[in-house]
Amino acid sequence: MRVATSASADEPLRLVTLPSRVLGADEVRVRVRAIGVNPVDWKMRTGGPLRMAHHFVGPRGPLVVGVDFAGEVTEVGSGVQELTAGARVVGGTNFARKQLGSYADEVVVRPDQCAVLPDAVGFEAAACLPVAAVTPSVVLHDLGPLPENPRVLVLGASGGVGLFALQLVRNLGGQAVGVCSGRNVGIVERFAGIAVDYTKGDALVAARAHGPFDRIVHAVGSATYPLAGCKELLAERGVCGLVVVRPGDYATIAFSRRFRAVLGRPDGARLRPLVAALGRGELEPVIEARFPLAEAEAAHALSRAGKVVGKILLIPDAT
Ligand SMILES: NC(=O)c1ccc[n+]([C@@H]2O[C@H](COP(=O)([O-])OP(=O)(O)OC[C@H]3O[C@@H](n4cnc5c(N)ncnc54)[C@H](OP(=O)(O)O)[C@@H]3O)[C@@H](O)[C@H]2O)c1
Repeated sequence: MRVATSASADEPLRLVTLPSRVLGADEVRVRVRAIGVNPVDWKMRTGGPLRMAHHFVGPRGPLVVGVDFAGEVTEVGSGVQELTAGARVVGGTNFARKQLGSYADEVVVRPDQCAVLPDAVGFEAAACLPVAAVTPSVVLHDLGPLPENPRVLVLGASGGVGLFALQLVRNLGGQAVGVCSGRNVGIVERFAGIAVDYTKGDALVAARAHGPFDRIVHAVGSATYPLAGCKELLAERGVCGLVVVRPGDYATIAFSRRFRAVLGRPDGARLRPLVAALGRGELEPVIEARFPLAEAEAAHALSRAGKVVGKILLIPDAT
């Protein structure tokens, strides 16, 4: 199998051939056709809490980052009943299960990490979903009940997480208000959001005209949009889901029920309703760029620049 890896964070990712892992009885092998790039992939290379966790509980050997994958099952373990060879799936790798990341032409995962794709859903569209769509669905569904027709503020509305957040709110019958820069007002409005242009002044002040909010999807970070300002925008029972958590946020999270740290860990159960929505045309992934897996480093440079609209994909078979 080929993986994209590097000996250290300072060296560019390059393709390396590794022996394929022997399949466990409860595992499946997936031929990867498309990989979604997430900021966590390049953050993992340099350090942080997830890298620390990977060090202690992750697989040995070269660091292979990446979570999102879509592809075909090529082999199933002797104890697997949920999937058969040939199934088209989307899923997320899990280093806590000693699995390598998804920047590879094959992954070995367990069936509960996968959702089956209907014929109408392509690999590229599916590979956009795992981290970027599961994360806002956690914010919307796991942080307490929402009223009918909720009002939701999305900070970072044009990114991978943000564009799915806007669409999920619309699908719930709610009204999303998305904070973005002037160049992205059009796309935020297209996904049924009211756009607030952060280049025109204090976005939290401007958002007040559209609140109060039952939920905030905070996908930018409290250095840019302070938690005190967010709190003022919340409805009486409103909750702010912190998709980006900074060390200074933990005291607020510990003492206020209004702020919750969110981890968008994709698995089959989380992905199935999102795949179904994709199949019905109720979710539309926006793909800014595709790179061959061999050019993963260029994909990381683009993601690091922080201006991506929607998703970047890596394609193992592209040259
Ligand atoms: N906790 C979790 O499980 C989890 C899951 C997914 C993501 N995350 C984190 O959440 C963050 C967002 O992820 P992502 O995948 O959406 O990233 P992304 O796609 O790289 O986000 C890029 C977008 O952010 C927008 N942006 C930058 N500064 C902004 C600002 N001040 N206000 C509003 N929008 C701004 C940019 O638009 P402009 O160019 O117009 O500014 C761009 O469209 C990342 O830090 C990521 O690591 C965490």
